[in-house]
This record gives sequence, C-alpha cells and structure tokens, in this order.
Amino acid sequence: MFEDKIHDFLRVTSMEACKDTSRSRGEAPPVLKKMAEESNRCFPLTDPALLPDIPCNLMEIFECRESVRTYSSEPITTKELSTLLWCTQGVKMELSNGKTYRNVPAAGGMHSLETYLFIQHVENFEDGLYRYMPYEHALAQLWLKDSSDIDFSEAFPNRTMVEHSAITFVWTSVVERLSYGYGARALRYAFLDAGHVCENLYLAAQALRIGVCAVGAFDDELLNRLLSVDAEKECAVYAATVGKV
Ligand SMILES: Cc1cc2nc3c(=O)[nH]c(=O)nc-3n(C[C@H](O)[C@H](O)[C@H](O)COP(=O)(O)O)c2cc1C
Repeated sequence: MFEDKIHDFLRVTSMEACKDTSRSRGEAPPVLKKMAEESNRCFPLTDPALLPDIPCNLMEIFECRESVRTYSSEPITTKELSTLLWCTQGVKMELSNGKTYRNVPAAGGMHSLETYLFIQHVENFEDGLYRYMPYEHALAQLWLKDSSDIDFSEAFPNRTMVEHSAITFVWTSVVERLSYGYGARALRYAFLDAGHVCENLYLAAQALRIGVCAVGAFDDELLNRLLSVDAEKECAVYAATVGKV
C-alpha cells in the first residue's frame, strides 16, 4: 500500500530515528565544494556586484508568477544568466569552515545542491552541458552539444519543453553533505532545499520577464547518467526549463 510506504518514510526519517549520525559520532564533516575537473574549461559570469538592480513590484512578481512551457528562440543574455544563478545559488559569504551563506536557505547551511545547465540559447555560450561553480560564480563546461551524441531531452517525458528551452536547469543533491548531520532525514531536506531554489528561479525569472517551468518528471537513472554523476553519492532531484517568452 502506498500509504504504508509514506508512513514508513516518515518513520525512518523522523528526528528520533535519525539521532545517530556521522556528526553525532564526532566524525569529520564532508567537503562542501565540488571542484571542476582539470579538463573543464571555466567561464566567469558577470560579477554579481555589477548586475543591474531590477526595480519591481514584489506583489506583482508573486501574483504574475506562472509556469511557462513554450519559449521563443531569443537568447538569454549573459547578465540574465548570471542573475538567475546568483538568485538561485549565489554565495554571499564563505566561512572559514567551508560553509556558505547564499541567496537561498538550506538545511544546516550545508548546501547539498549542485546546479547543472543544459544550455541551448545563451549569448556567448556554446550549446552544451555546464555546471555552476557557486564559490567562483563561474560555469564549468562539461560537454558541448556539437561534439557529443547525447540527446539530453531523452531523459524527460515532456522532451519538447527541454528541446525548446534556452536553458534546462537540473539540481542534484550531494547526499553526504546532508546525511552527515541528519542521517536518513537528509532525504527530506534535499528536496525541500531544491524547492526553495526553484522558487527563487521562478521569481527572479518573472522579474526579468523570462519563462520557467518546474520539472519533476524525468528518468532518474538516465538523467544521472547524462550528468555523469554516481547516483549513490549525487543524484538529480529537480529540474526546470527556462526561456524567453
Ligand atoms: C514539484 C513540482 C514538479 C513539477 N513537475 C512538472 C513537470 O514535470 N512538468 C510540467 O509541465 N510541469 C511541472 N510542474 C509545474 C506544475 O504543473 C505547475 O506549477 C502547476 O500546474 C501550477 O501552475 P502554475 O505554476 O502556473 O501556477 C511541477 C511543479 C512542481 C512544484
């Protein structure tokens, strides 16, 4: 029964069941920063300090936010890309223990999420897969569409939305960053963290008049494979398509 499974999940991930953790046993914390591979080309993004303010009516942003599933082929500008990444995962301050304060909240400040971008229409960026480097506010290039036979949209049942997007965001969770302090309860927090991030994407994009649609429907195994992540350690939790309207 599905209800039993939910009940089991809630029980297994309750505070009481998750008291014994690596942190409570005094073990060393996990590394919070995922480094780029040496072979990855890195592209700095527009310095957040140089991004223009966006005067807007906050209530109007909330009330006009909606999911947009069809996009024009007009490219996203590099400043707009920088703004979307800054608002969703930008690092405001790095602490001496490696933790960060960002523009989104995260359980225990552990920031388990990594952001992958499948770029198709962004000014000055070749089409392909990139990973956001939040500490550097830069993009690491993972592979280019032209030199790969990977069909990224294949991992999504609604592939047209991905095919026509300027950018498809995919958020993975590096589970160890959360399980260190929370054990199995990490399973709840990874998805809650992702929800905050995606809502910031919706709101920032709304202010820029850019369309967004959250995407929870994807083939987990295939998507993790396309991202080249070891799903035991890092797995896709949420995605969103983005494009000019
Ligand atoms: C967790 C979550 C998963 C979603 N997954 C999809 C999806 O896979 N495909 C899709 O077209 N829309 C998806 N959506 C968008 C919802 O369908 C949309 O938010 C809902 O219909 C309400 O419309 P609105 O966002 O315009 O207010 C998702 C939204 C959320 C919050």
